[in-house]
Amino acid sequence: MFGTIVLLVVSTWLAQWLYKRLTKKSASCPSVPGLPLLGNALNFDITRPMAILEKWNKEHGDVYKINLMGEEVVVVNGDVCYEVLVNRSDEFAGRPHTPRFDWIFHGDLVFRDPDENFKAWRKFLHHGLRQYGSGMKRIESVVQEEIKECLATVEDQQGEPFDPQNIIHGTVLNIILIFIMGKRLPKDDPFIDTMKKAERALSESCGPGAGVELDMMPWLRYFNIPSYKKLIGFNNLRDEVINHWIKMKREETDPDNVSCMMDWLLICQEEHVGKVGALSEVNLKMITQNIWFGGSLTTFNSCYFGLLILINHPEIQSKIYEQIIKAVGKERLPCLDDRANLPYVDAFLLELMRYVTILPFAVPHKAMSDTTLRGYSIPAGTQIWVNLFGLHHDERFFPDPWTFNPDRFIDKDGQVISPFERKMLMPFSAGRRVCFGEQLARARLFLLFTSWVQRFTFLPEDDTSGPPSYHPSNYILGIALRAEDYKLRAVPRK
Ligand code: HEM
Repeated sequence: MFGTIVLLVVSTWLAQWLYKRLTKKSASCPSVPGLPLLGNALNFDITRPMAILEKWNKEHGDVYKINLMGEEVVVVNGDVCYEVLVNRSDEFAGRPHTPRFDWIFHGDLVFRDPDENFKAWRKFLHHGLRQYGSGMKRIESVVQEEIKECLATVEDQQGEPFDPQNIIHGTVLNIILIFIMGKRLPKDDPFIDTMKKAERALSESCGPGAGVELDMMPWLRYFNIPSYKKLIGFNNLRDEVINHWIKMKREETDPDNVSCMMDWLLICQEEHVGKVGALSEVNLKMITQNIWFGGSLTTFNSCYFGLLILINHPEIQSKIYEQIIKAVGKERLPCLDDRANLPYVDAFLLELMRYVTILPFAVPHKAMSDTTLRGYSIPAGTQIWVNLFGLHHDERFFPDPWTFNPDRFIDKDGQVISPFERKMLMPFSAGRRVCFGEQLARARLFLLFTSWVQRFTFLPEDDTSGPPSYHPSNYILGIALRAEDYKLRAVPRK
């Protein structure tokens, strides 16, 4: 009996799948040859996809398509990325849907097509960000408090080898928590642990290497397979955290004293009942989730990579240190006003964002209507991967791309080159779907790295074996790219 049911389910799914494949319009760009049914799914390790996409770019040009078990994906490369994101932003601003995204992100902002609510919610968020004052002054004071804690914890390691992951993660999570909730938690608070657990569960259930079978065969959820259990586990942990935040804030929000993003969202919710931009409880929870995950894994992984690069490049570390000492001194912590006098630090951070490209293909985009791209037809609904990682390592735009060299962003007067001159650098994407947290992220990275280098010399775990490589072939793609685990020593500066 059970066998008959399984057979029935599988054959119905196969028939539907075949019907969809045979009737769906297809993009006319070159296609990477693959296997029947599976397409290119077995051609590459989805947790380390960058090298093969680069090879296909060389073989098939700047617009080509791959097939992931029936789902056609157009991969755009080189300056086509700029065309898609900036020049024709509205045409490609949609988001594709997959069963997993729907189960996890339904009702959110990130995976929503740009409809009226999307526009209203983005406005709410930008307005909320402005509550922090011009020039991010409040963010700065909040981050500096957190940085002091972080510096003390690093100092506690007494120059001995340690893996900085946990310390960075705690710091980044607390900054996000203050941003969302207006308060921080002690680093050993169990709630921080629950947040970390939720992030791990998200990577395990929704990273590209995990749970793909659920997108292909959504009915597998009825068999409660391990990847579906992980996904439900994530949803539960996420709900535990965010429901708690919402309940707490509902009890204490004072409309005359907005101190954080959640205060602001609750006010927007009250003011927009029945109007464009109305926020249901689910929307509220999901947008909070977007800020939490958007702001945590990206920044945490960028910091972890950044320190790995610094232990590989003592000469870059010294140059950053010298500039900090000259412009800020040793006594006070660096602040955002120092930025104008620290062009080399900015150049280092730009190069870090380029070299690593934490979200290598942005978040998948979708064509909003039938269109063409470089002469190829692209049907409405086609999923588009904007290969930012490929663009950032394309020697047509970044000469000697595999060398880590902050000086590429410095002009002949020692200043950072203009945004126009670096327009092909888009680690936060660009256009209609540009990262909402770009200014916040840049401010945090600046404050964290300047404070770390001002106080410590970062060295490899031991002098004899040298530091682990930071070459992208070692990166692992989860929700964002991450480095393999490593240890370093942080020796306090005299
Ligand atoms: C190093 C840090 C960060 C990097 C490199 C980064 C990068 C990106 C990228 C590439 C996208 C995809 C845009 C697209 O699909 O075209 C994105 C979207 C987004 N990011 Fe970030 N991000 C960072 C930090 C943050 C922070 C701190 C927040 C929130 C506080 C945030 C919130 C978001 C949101 C809400 C979106 C979705 C925008 C939309 O779909 O319209 N991000 N980010």
